[in-house]
Amino acid sequence: PLSALIIEKTSYTKPDGTISEIDAFWSSSLTDSATRAKPDIEAVDSSSRLNSINEIFEVTTKPLIYDADTGGKNEHLSFTIKNLERIGVSAVIIEDKSGLKRNSLFGNEATQQQESIENFCVKIETAKSVQLTSDFMVIARIESLILEKGIDDALLRAKEYIAAGADGIMIHSKKQDTAEIEEFAIKYNKLPGRTPLVAVPTTYNSITEKRLASLGFNVVIYANHMLRASYPAMQNVVKSILKNERSKELDESLMSIKDIINLIPVK
Ligand code: SPV
Ligand code: MG
Repeated sequence: PLSALIIEKTSYTKPDGTISEIDAFWSSSLTDSATRAKPDIEAVDSSSRLNSINEIFEVTTKPLIYDADTGGKNEHLSFTIKNLERIGVSAVIIEDKSGLKRNSLFGNEATQQQESIENFCVKIETAKSVQLTSDFMVIARIESLILEKGIDDALLRAKEYIAAGADGIMIHSKKQDTAEIEEFAIKYNKLPGRTPLVAVPTTYNSITEKRLASLGFNVVIYANHMLRASYPAMQNVVKSILKNERSKELDESLMSIKDIINLIPVK
């Protein structure tokens, strides 16, 4: 909720006077797990993740996209989808992995399996069959590039997942180089029934939003940057206190007491 509040309240005025804001929240499995000191292996159950989303919605107004990992068993996924839709989540992203899920950015360094196209299509159909409104989106996440299965496999999966009812496709890559993402996007745009395309440019972060948009990407997710900023900042606080045996040296790098007590007004 605190991260969401920062997003809610932060805007940037460009030199030409236009105001830029983040459009939506990403409920990341990586950061939702890490903030609870757990690895990103679906160990944080959906009830506790839904609780924090409720807390986010208590203090914010933007839409939220939920990272549902593999979605778990189909029988469990239908409850997750119903709960997400009921509490006001706008979209869910389900990834085509099976077995013990590891973070995608490990790639083949960790043992990770991709789900069969057939099974994953059943998962998409299950999710789509339980939603109540036409607004809620089920986005299929393709892990073929992460697991080095190639662009043709990724495109075949995109085609099949759209046919199964996916409202959008997320293509992930852990390369620094943008070549494979660019090639995928160009070919994806030619698919009949093309749906919105989502990018998570964590490793290939030299690419600009403008370039991603010109390649046809519709959504760009900055998945973990706020947490990666806060961890070293908090670690430095502990180190400085241990070193100086007081907190005075931190004054310059901290927000003031006045600002923190006034951060969340009582209304
Ligand atoms: C997450 O933020 O949890 C994601 C994106 O799924 S990644 O960590 O790159 O797999
Ligand atoms: Mg995740």
